[in-house]
Amino acid sequence: MSSDKLIIFDTTLRDGEQSPGASMTREEKLRIAKKLEQMRVDVIEAGFPIASEGDFEAVKSVAETVRDSTVCGLARALEKDIDRAGEALKHAARARIHTFIATSPIHMERKLRMTPDQVVEQAVWAVKRARNYTDDVEFSAEDAGRSEMDFLCRIVEAAIDAGARTINIPDTVGYNLPHQFGETIRTLIERVPNADKAVFSVHCHNDLGLAVANSLSAVLNGARQVECTINGLGERAGNAALEEVVMAVRTRQDVFPCDTDLDTTQIVACSKLVSSITGFPVQPNKAIVGANAFAHESGIHQDGVLKHRETYEIMRAEDVGWSHNRMVLGKHSGRNAFRTRLRELGIEFESEEKLNEAFARFKALADKKHEIFDEDLQALVSETVHETYEPRIRLVSLRVCTETGETPTADVVLTIDGEERAVSASGAGPVDAAFKAIEALVQTGARLTLYSVNNITSGTDSQGEVTVRLEKDETMVNGQGADTDIVIASAKAYVNAANRLMTPLEREHPQLGDV
Ligand code: KIV
Ligand code: ZN
Repeated sequence: MSSDKLIIFDTTLRDGEQSPGASMTREEKLRIAKKLEQMRVDVIEAGFPIASEGDFEAVKSVAETVRDSTVCGLARALEKDIDRAGEALKHAARARIHTFIATSPIHMERKLRMTPDQVVEQAVWAVKRARNYTDDVEFSAEDAGRSEMDFLCRIVEAAIDAGARTINIPDTVGYNLPHQFGETIRTLIERVPNADKAVFSVHCHNDLGLAVANSLSAVLNGARQVECTINGLGERAGNAALEEVVMAVRTRQDVFPCDTDLDTTQIVACSKLVSSITGFPVQPNKAIVGANAFAHESGIHQDGVLKHRETYEIMRAEDVGWSHNRMVLGKHSGRNAFRTRLRELGIEFESEEKLNEAFARFKALADKKHEIFDEDLQALVSETVHETYEPRIRLVSLRVCTETGETPTADVVLTIDGEERAVSASGAGPVDAAFKAIEALVQTGARLTLYSVNNITSGTDSQGEVTVRLEKDETMVNGQGADTDIVIASAKAYVNAANRLMTPLEREHPQLGDV
């Protein structure tokens, strides 16, 4: 077993949220944060408190709720950012402020319009300011991957002197190659005189598909914190995928001189939770968490695995949570079993009323579907548990008519602010007809920019989980709906998105603020 610890810093709720369309409400962030804590993630970056009121509230709630993981807030090297982060983290059991400033020539000249001396001065000032709020301060040299080594050494030394305990080296634009990035980390650790006073961290973007490889190369060269996200979510092509980093290190203990404290059996559940909240499906061939990651198709492989599992498997599916959580409920399961299973999945109900509502939906689903899996439960309760507002629009009924050679039609009945309204529409297919009918009633005027359907479990009686993205002006919302009938799931998703559009919450996207 390794002697060194590799710190896992999860930024799903911050960088992950910067994926277009992945913005989350406070409630959604809290659910993910609780799951990350249960998985024993060391540091949870909960958001960018200065970005919006919503993000501030989200970081604050996560800080007030999570007790076992450190909760971190991002701040530029500016007074207002750092003070806002300090305020949001006030009640955290363990708080970290993560402050950053760009260090590459192109960023300093073109974006910051500052000289290198000014950048160092600002970084030192920011770290000291953050230390007024917490001893746990992380400094990031943004675009370090394209920064000059001498300057990087200088600013890192100064930041450590000013009190930074973690030095993060981001490959902000995903430009580096593994051997080169590893070399950067090794050189920094060797050349910075006070390097032993800080943990070196990396934060890699996936523009060339190298985020995980670059992170691992850094670990082999001395980095002891990796910043990553569930399912590799993140700005543009995303960040290093947490599940891949963690499992590579765990599986190749013959190579890595360190290991994480993660409970890897929570990985699949966490991946599904993030996917269902953001509406970003996981591709079937995605490493570790894709539906095919442990499926053997070829006869030769199947035969080999049956004879001796290690012939074709380097990891055990149950070690990352496949099948581990597959205890099923059915129509005879009672309220207690339902509540207990949801609690194990990290889902708590605010009130008995919400529990009863979800239980009634569970019974209705169990009448249609023989076995209810964890994935079904997560989809089923997601609307009931995490919408904190009263939806203005409700789907009362939907009837579609589709026949070869005929134009499909949909009859939709909704209540809007309590008033029942009905309309019929035709469309290219039943989903198109249903959406046209709903839009005729709710008149959001929004553009539909994403429509995706995923089966939650296998089999033709599986629930379909639909994501609908609507965009209007500066606002982009995702709606979700699940049902064994995918036309109904689609209608639910559209209604959900329309409600979110018509009920502006703290869902404002960080990038749309003034930062
Ligand atoms: O990619 C990046 O450089 C960042 C920093 C804020 C750490 O996300
Ligand atoms: Zn980033």
